[in-house]
Amino acid sequence: MSIPEETTGSTSDSTPSASGNTWHDRPKADKISCPALLSFYNNDLLNPDESGNVSTAELDDVLESVGLNAKVRGVLVKGADKTDEIPDSFNLFALGDSKINHSGSTGIRDPEVTPEKLESALLKFSEDGRMYAEHFAAAANYAHQQDPGLKGTIIQTMEFTALLEVFGRVDEAKKRYLTVDDVKGLWMDGKFPPGWQPRNSDEIGVDDLASGGMEMAVNRLLQMLKF
Ligand code: HEM
Repeated sequence: MSIPEETTGSTSDSTPSASGNTWHDRPKADKISCPALLSFYNNDLLNPDESGNVSTAELDDVLESVGLNAKVRGVLVKGADKTDEIPDSFNLFALGDSKINHSGSTGIRDPEVTPEKLESALLKFSEDGRMYAEHFAAAANYAHQQDPGLKGTIIQTMEFTALLEVFGRVDEAKKRYLTVDDVKGLWMDGKFPPGWQPRNSDEIGVDDLASGGMEMAVNRLLQMLKF
Protein backbone atom coordinates (compact mmCIF):
# COMPACT_ATOMS: atom_id res chain seq x y z
CA MET A 1 0.00 0.00 0.00
CA SER A 2 1.36 3.40 -0.82
CA ILE A 3 1.08 6.35 1.48
CA PRO A 4 -0.26 9.47 -0.18
CA GLU A 5 1.89 12.52 0.18
CA GLU A 6 0.13 15.32 1.95
CA THR A 7 -0.36 18.39 -0.15
CA THR A 8 -2.35 21.45 0.64
CA GLY A 9 -3.35 22.17 -2.94
CA SER A 10 -6.47 20.69 -4.50
CA THR A 11 -6.40 18.42 -7.53
CA SER A 12 -6.59 20.26 -10.79
CA ASP A 13 -9.22 19.20 -13.30
CA SER A 14 -6.59 17.62 -15.49
CA THR A 15 -4.93 15.54 -12.78
CA PRO A 16 -5.39 11.87 -13.61
CA SER A 17 -6.91 9.96 -10.71
CA ALA A 18 -5.39 6.87 -9.17
CA SER A 19 -7.40 4.77 -11.56
CA GLY A 20 -5.98 6.61 -14.55
CA ASN A 21 -9.24 8.50 -15.03
CA THR A 22 -9.56 12.25 -15.02
CA TRP A 23 -11.79 14.17 -12.63
CA HIS A 24 -14.57 16.25 -14.09
CA ASP A 25 -17.81 17.65 -12.76
CA ARG A 26 -20.47 15.44 -14.34
CA PRO A 27 -24.18 16.15 -14.85
CA LYS A 28 -26.47 15.59 -11.90
CA ALA A 29 -23.54 15.08 -9.53
CA ASP A 30 -25.44 17.21 -7.01
CA LYS A 31 -28.03 14.41 -6.74
CA ILE A 32 -25.47 12.09 -5.14
CA SER A 33 -25.42 12.43 -1.34
CA CYS A 34 -22.57 9.94 -0.73
CA PRO A 35 -19.09 11.50 -1.07
CA ALA A 36 -17.53 8.16 -2.06
CA LEU A 37 -20.06 7.43 -4.81
CA LEU A 38 -19.70 11.03 -5.98
CA SER A 39 -15.93 10.59 -6.35
CA PHE A 40 -16.35 7.33 -8.25
CA TYR A 41 -18.85 9.03 -10.56
CA ASN A 42 -16.80 12.20 -11.18
CA ASN A 43 -13.77 10.03 -11.92
CA ASP A 44 -15.75 8.02 -14.49
CA LEU A 45 -15.67 4.81 -12.49
CA LEU A 46 -19.47 4.66 -12.22
CA ASN A 47 -21.30 5.16 -15.49
CA PRO A 48 -25.08 5.26 -15.19
CA ASP A 49 -27.45 4.91 -18.15
CA GLU A 50 -29.59 7.90 -19.20
CA SER A 51 -32.03 7.20 -16.34
CA GLY A 52 -29.32 7.02 -13.69
CA ASN A 53 -29.21 3.21 -13.37
CA VAL A 54 -25.91 1.53 -12.58
CA SER A 55 -25.50 -2.25 -12.55
CA THR A 56 -24.52 -3.77 -9.23
CA ALA A 57 -21.76 -5.65 -11.13
CA GLU A 58 -20.19 -2.29 -12.00
CA LEU A 59 -20.50 -1.14 -8.38
CA ASP A 60 -18.86 -4.37 -7.23
CA ASP A 61 -15.94 -3.81 -9.65
CA VAL A 62 -15.42 -0.26 -8.39
CA LEU A 63 -15.55 -1.28 -4.73
CA GLU A 64 -13.09 -4.08 -5.48
CA SER A 65 -10.73 -1.64 -7.22
CA VAL A 66 -10.54 0.51 -4.05
CA GLY A 67 -9.57 -2.43 -1.84
CA LEU A 68 -12.81 -3.63 -0.23
CA ASN A 69 -12.93 -7.39 0.21
CA ALA A 70 -15.70 -9.66 -1.07
CA LYS A 71 -17.63 -9.75 2.21
CA VAL A 72 -17.81 -5.96 2.60
CA ARG A 73 -18.63 -5.54 -1.08
CA GLY A 74 -21.39 -8.15 -0.76
CA VAL A 75 -23.11 -6.12 1.97
CA LEU A 76 -22.84 -2.82 0.09
CA VAL A 77 -23.91 -4.28 -3.25
CA LYS A 78 -26.90 -6.05 -1.70
CA GLY A 79 -27.91 -2.82 0.06
CA ALA A 80 -27.67 -0.91 -3.22
CA ASP A 81 -29.68 -3.53 -5.10
CA LYS A 82 -32.53 -3.28 -2.59
CA THR A 83 -33.00 0.46 -3.19
CA ASP A 84 -35.21 0.01 -6.25
CA GLU A 85 -37.36 -2.54 -8.07
CA ILE A 86 -34.89 -3.28 -10.86
CA PRO A 87 -32.85 -6.42 -10.16
CA ASP A 88 -29.03 -6.16 -10.08
CA SER A 89 -29.15 -2.38 -10.45
CA PHE A 90 -29.57 0.82 -8.43
CA ASN A 91 -30.27 4.41 -9.35
CA LEU A 92 -27.28 6.62 -8.52
CA PHE A 93 -29.35 9.79 -8.51
CA ALA A 94 -32.28 8.49 -6.47
CA LEU A 95 -30.53 7.08 -3.38
CA GLY A 96 -31.58 10.14 -1.38
CA ASP A 97 -35.21 9.05 -1.68
CA SER A 98 -34.51 5.39 -1.01
CA LYS A 99 -34.60 3.51 2.27
CA ILE A 100 -30.79 3.51 2.36
CA ASN A 101 -30.96 7.19 3.31
CA HIS A 102 -30.72 7.54 7.06
CA SER A 103 -30.73 9.96 9.96
CA GLY A 104 -27.50 11.22 11.51
CA SER A 105 -25.76 12.34 8.31
CA THR A 106 -23.90 15.65 8.11
CA GLY A 107 -26.54 17.06 5.76
CA ILE A 108 -23.80 18.57 3.57
CA ARG A 109 -25.13 16.86 0.43
CA ASP A 110 -28.50 15.70 1.73
CA PRO A 111 -31.24 16.66 0.96
CA GLU A 112 -29.31 19.13 -1.21
CA VAL A 113 -25.73 20.31 -1.51
CA THR A 114 -25.19 22.97 1.19
CA PRO A 115 -21.54 24.13 1.13
CA GLU A 116 -21.95 26.23 4.32
CA LYS A 117 -22.49 23.02 6.28
CA LEU A 118 -19.03 21.75 5.36
CA GLU A 119 -17.50 23.97 8.04
CA SER A 120 -20.23 23.67 10.66
CA ALA A 121 -20.82 19.92 10.31
CA LEU A 122 -17.31 18.63 9.57
CA LEU A 123 -14.31 20.93 9.29
CA LYS A 124 -14.83 22.71 12.59
CA PHE A 125 -13.98 19.38 14.28
CA SER A 126 -10.58 19.17 12.55
CA GLU A 127 -7.31 19.82 14.38
CA ASP A 128 -4.15 21.17 12.77
CA GLY A 129 -5.67 20.72 9.33
CA ARG A 130 -6.39 17.02 9.81
CA MET A 131 -9.36 14.81 10.60
CA TYR A 132 -8.70 11.52 12.40
CA ALA A 133 -11.25 9.02 13.73
CA GLU A 134 -11.82 11.14 16.85
CA HIS A 135 -12.65 14.20 14.76
CA PHE A 136 -15.11 12.29 12.60
CA ALA A 137 -16.54 10.91 15.85
CA ALA A 138 -17.14 14.47 17.05
CA ALA A 139 -18.82 15.30 13.74
CA ALA A 140 -21.00 12.19 14.04
CA ASN A 141 -22.04 13.22 17.57
CA TYR A 142 -22.91 16.68 16.34
CA ALA A 143 -24.98 15.24 13.46
CA HIS A 144 -26.72 12.91 15.90
CA GLN A 145 -27.82 15.91 17.99
CA GLN A 146 -29.42 17.48 14.92
CA ASP A 147 -31.06 14.33 13.60
CA PRO A 148 -31.15 11.47 16.12
CA GLY A 149 -31.88 7.80 15.41
CA LEU A 150 -29.96 4.70 16.49
CA LYS A 151 -29.74 3.00 13.10
CA GLY A 152 -28.60 6.22 11.45
CA THR A 153 -25.93 6.91 14.02
CA ILE A 154 -24.44 3.42 13.68
CA ILE A 155 -24.43 3.65 9.88
CA GLN A 156 -22.87 7.11 10.01
CA THR A 157 -20.03 5.80 12.20
CA MET A 158 -19.41 2.94 9.75
CA GLU A 159 -19.48 5.31 6.76
CA PHE A 160 -16.87 7.59 8.29
CA THR A 161 -14.78 4.55 9.17
CA ALA A 162 -15.01 3.21 5.61
CA LEU A 163 -14.04 6.63 4.26
CA LEU A 164 -10.88 6.69 6.37
CA GLU A 165 -10.04 3.10 5.42
CA VAL A 166 -10.51 3.73 1.68
CA PHE A 167 -9.19 7.28 1.24
CA GLY A 168 -7.24 7.97 4.45
CA ARG A 169 -3.59 8.93 4.57
CA VAL A 170 -1.40 7.18 7.13
CA ASP A 171 0.66 9.17 9.65
CA GLU A 172 3.94 8.31 11.35
CA ALA A 173 2.06 6.38 14.03
CA LYS A 174 0.15 4.48 11.30
CA LYS A 175 -3.10 6.26 12.15
CA ARG A 176 -5.41 7.17 9.31
CA TYR A 177 -6.54 10.73 8.65
CA LEU A 178 -7.72 13.07 5.91
CA THR A 179 -6.63 16.65 5.51
CA VAL A 180 -9.30 19.36 5.52
CA ASP A 181 -8.62 19.83 1.80
CA ASP A 182 -9.16 16.09 1.21
CA VAL A 183 -12.49 16.30 3.04
CA LYS A 184 -13.51 19.39 1.11
CA GLY A 185 -12.52 17.79 -2.20
CA LEU A 186 -14.43 14.60 -1.50
CA TRP A 187 -17.63 16.19 -0.18
CA MET A 188 -17.85 19.18 -2.49
CA ASP A 189 -16.45 17.89 -5.77
CA GLY A 190 -15.93 14.15 -5.50
CA LYS A 191 -12.17 14.56 -5.90
CA PHE A 192 -9.87 11.82 -4.71
CA PRO A 193 -7.31 13.11 -2.15
CA PRO A 194 -4.25 14.36 -4.06
CA GLY A 195 -1.71 11.56 -4.39
CA TRP A 196 -4.23 8.93 -3.33
CA GLN A 197 -3.59 5.39 -4.52
CA PRO A 198 -6.16 2.66 -3.90
CA ARG A 199 -5.20 0.05 -1.34
CA ASN A 200 -4.38 -3.48 -2.42
CA SER A 201 -7.14 -5.80 -3.53
CA ASP A 202 -9.19 -7.29 -0.70
CA GLU A 203 -7.19 -5.36 1.91
CA ILE A 204 -10.19 -3.80 3.66
CA GLY A 205 -12.35 -6.34 5.44
CA VAL A 206 -15.18 -6.46 7.94
CA ASP A 207 -12.63 -6.62 10.77
CA ASP A 208 -11.06 -3.32 9.71
CA LEU A 209 -14.43 -1.64 9.55
CA ALA A 210 -15.49 -3.20 12.85
CA SER A 211 -12.31 -2.23 14.72
CA GLY A 212 -12.21 1.23 13.13
CA GLY A 213 -15.93 1.59 13.84
CA MET A 214 -15.40 0.51 17.42
CA GLU A 215 -12.59 3.05 17.86
CA MET A 216 -14.85 5.76 16.52
CA ALA A 217 -17.77 4.58 18.67
CA VAL A 218 -15.58 4.71 21.81
CA ASN A 219 -14.41 8.18 20.83
CA ARG A 220 -18.01 9.24 20.40
CA LEU A 221 -18.98 7.87 23.78
CA LEU A 222 -16.06 9.54 25.55
CA GLN A 223 -16.86 12.85 23.91
CA MET A 224 -20.53 12.54 24.86
CA LEU A 225 -19.53 11.86 28.45
CA LYS A 226 -16.99 14.69 28.18
CA PHE A 227 -14.03 12.70 29.53
C1 HEM B 1 -16.26 2.93 -0.55
C2 HEM B 1 -17.48 2.80 -0.10
C3 HEM B 1 -18.24 3.90 0.59
C4 HEM B 1 -17.80 4.87 1.45
C5 HEM B 1 -16.39 5.08 1.96
C6 HEM B 1 -18.95 5.69 1.80
C7 HEM B 1 -18.90 6.78 2.66
C8 HEM B 1 -19.99 7.55 3.01
C9 HEM B 1 -19.96 8.66 3.95
C10 HEM B 1 -18.74 9.13 4.74
C11 HEM B 1 -21.22 9.15 4.03
C12 HEM B 1 -21.69 10.27 4.98
C13 HEM B 1 -21.98 11.54 4.24
C14 HEM B 1 -22.44 12.65 5.15
O1 HEM B 1 -22.90 12.41 6.26
O2 HEM B 1 -22.33 13.81 4.70
C15 HEM B 1 -22.03 8.40 3.11
C16 HEM B 1 -23.36 8.65 2.87
C17 HEM B 1 -24.14 7.91 2.02
N1 HEM B 1 -23.76 6.79 1.32
FE1 HEM B 1 -21.88 6.09 1.13
N2 HEM B 1 -20.05 5.21 1.13
C18 HEM B 1 -19.67 4.13 0.39
C19 HEM B 1 -20.46 3.36 -0.41
C20 HEM B 1 -21.81 3.56 -0.59
C21 HEM B 1 -22.66 2.69 -1.39
C22 HEM B 1 -22.20 1.45 -2.14
C23 HEM B 1 -23.92 3.22 -1.33
C24 HEM B 1 -25.18 2.74 -1.98
C25 HEM B 1 -25.24 2.35 -3.23
C26 HEM B 1 -23.85 4.42 -0.51
C27 HEM B 1 -24.90 5.24 -0.22
C28 HEM B 1 -24.86 6.33 0.61
C29 HEM B 1 -25.99 7.23 0.86
C30 HEM B 1 -27.39 7.10 0.26
C31 HEM B 1 -25.53 8.20 1.75
C32 HEM B 1 -26.33 9.39 2.31
C33 HEM B 1 -26.96 9.02 3.61
C34 HEM B 1 -27.79 10.19 4.12
O3 HEM B 1 -27.46 11.35 3.87
O4 HEM B 1 -28.79 9.91 4.80
N3 HEM B 1 -22.55 4.58 -0.08
N4 HEM B 1 -21.27 7.42 2.52
